Amino acid sequence: MVALSNKIDHNIKCSDHRILVIDFGSQYTQLLLRRIRELGVYSELFSWNISESQIYSFNPSGIILSGGPHSVADLHFPSIPEFVFQLGIPIFGICYGMQVMSKQLGGEVKHLTTQREFGRTRITLVTESILTSDMCDYVDDITGHSVLDVWMSHGDIVTTIPQDFTVIGINKYQQVAVMANEDRRLYGVQFHPEVTHTKKGKNILERFVMRICSCKSSWKIANIIDNIVMDIRMKVGNDKVILGFSGGIDSLVTALLLRRAVGCQFICIFVDNGLLLHREFDRIKDFCDKNYDLKIIYVSKEQLFLDALIGIIDPEEKRKIIGKIFTEVFEEQIRNLVPIKWLVQGTIYSDIIESGMSLSYFKNVIKSHHNVGCFSGIMNVKLLEPIRNLFKDEVRSIGLELGIPRSIVYRYPFPGPGLAIRILGEVKREYCDILRKVDFIFIEELKRDNLYYNISQAFAVFLPIHSVGIQGDLRKYEWVVSLRAVETIDFMTARWAYLPYEFLNKVSNRIVNEVEGISRVVYDISSKPPATIEWE
Ligand code: XMP
Repeated sequence: MVALSNKIDHNIKCSDHRILVIDFGSQYTQLLLRRIRELGVYSELFSWNISESQIYSFNPSGIILSGGPHSVADLHFPSIPEFVFQLGIPIFGICYGMQVMSKQLGGEVKHLTTQREFGRTRITLVTESILTSDMCDYVDDITGHSVLDVWMSHGDIVTTIPQDFTVIGINKYQQVAVMANEDRRLYGVQFHPEVTHTKKGKNILERFVMRICSCKSSWKIANIIDNIVMDIRMKVGNDKVILGFSGGIDSLVTALLLRRAVGCQFICIFVDNGLLLHREFDRIKDFCDKNYDLKIIYVSKEQLFLDALIGIIDPEEKRKIIGKIFTEVFEEQIRNLVPIKWLVQGTIYSDIIESGMSLSYFKNVIKSHHNVGCFSGIMNVKLLEPIRNLFKDEVRSIGLELGIPRSIVYRYPFPGPGLAIRILGEVKREYCDILRKVDFIFIEELKRDNLYYNISQAFAVFLPIHSVGIQGDLRKYEWVVSLRAVETIDFMTARWAYLPYEFLNKVSNRIVNEVEGISRVVYDISSKPPATIEWE
């Protein structure tokens, strides 16, 4: 067995037990990461063309090969770097991950024209294996074998397993559904254990991570905090720092970690871009003044941002422009506040993944987050993103641990480009003002009816179309707004919230009566996918 070095340059040295996920582009890859972290084991995503030094640097206890949309029958199919098999650590292939492992180790994979499996199905366990022993959803009456409910999504199948492997489970067509080489600790499943429809999926992942890879649960909130604080302290030393501060949970957690690490060596910069919610800065300032001793500089740049957005209708272009101006504003601040050595940001892992900046090969930009990538290289100031490896719910747990009130921790996320992506098409101050009023009413009523914490995110969207309305005896052409409310766990998928009709009626009445210029309110009943949560 090859001993892996422990050259690790992350801020996560605490978790010496870690699982590396090689990404072949499955829609479930993030879920996989979440499931492993929920076991208390740190896990990170890398592209399938990961280099040997990246692997040594990460120092994994085990490797999981994700599923993906490819076929090993393709001419240039994505493959596992050969050295991965020489590492001597456990490897677990899921769906495409199992097929590609089979192919590379001498097995055969066939493209299916019939007998494909998409959705819920069952597999039968025919041989004992550490991965699945004692797991059973049903017993087959005839054979007495254990049967598991699983979730499949594949068009290819392993027809011949590699030498020294054993078939552990079969599907309803008697094809390979689970295979293992227990001596080399190599495993493969054709189904998706990371999806909740696979009833024993969590147990299977736990079995691989905790038993087969011998990982210990060390990815715990208290450890994470200590390690991030140590890492900041080590990097920053006595240098002066500024923090891009929006007052949201990500930047507030970052501020409190910074304070713990380097005391008063930092200043928070709050930029008002004119695209914020109603009285946002006052609210944040009041809260921070009452609870924390943070030094916050307020920078008013409303006009600059609104001018730059004149005539811009493309959402990605809006994001880019806003990101660019933010950079310029920070450059100006850094110049004024010399000698600043570090710019700190509250970027989190999903910002990185959605912006296509992760180490994943499949850089499919969903929406570029302006806090990702923009600030590197400003006037030799170094960029530090202390929570960039964390998911939102992990940041929230840290927030609670640091004593931030639940009302702040569970406040709805607000996107960096702000109202610019909630006003369809061109952004105008008039639209922003209307939207702020509408949003305020919606949120106020959600809180009043105790619905706020039952949903994950809610906001209003401005539609720049005129619709006919009647006021008194007059026919009027006024704007339309849409209300959006969703329930979600990870913001990757979401269901529109089933808000009570009486509630929607009350909000709609208040909006048309209290906000001038609005005659029509609609409620968005689209789920994600195919819609996204924001409209742009
Ligand atoms: P979507 O619209 O992609 O939203 O389904 C998922 C989550 O991300 C937030 N979001 C953004 N956050 N910059 C951000 O900082 C952005 O450009 C951006 N776009 C979407 C969105 O509010 C939701 O919570």
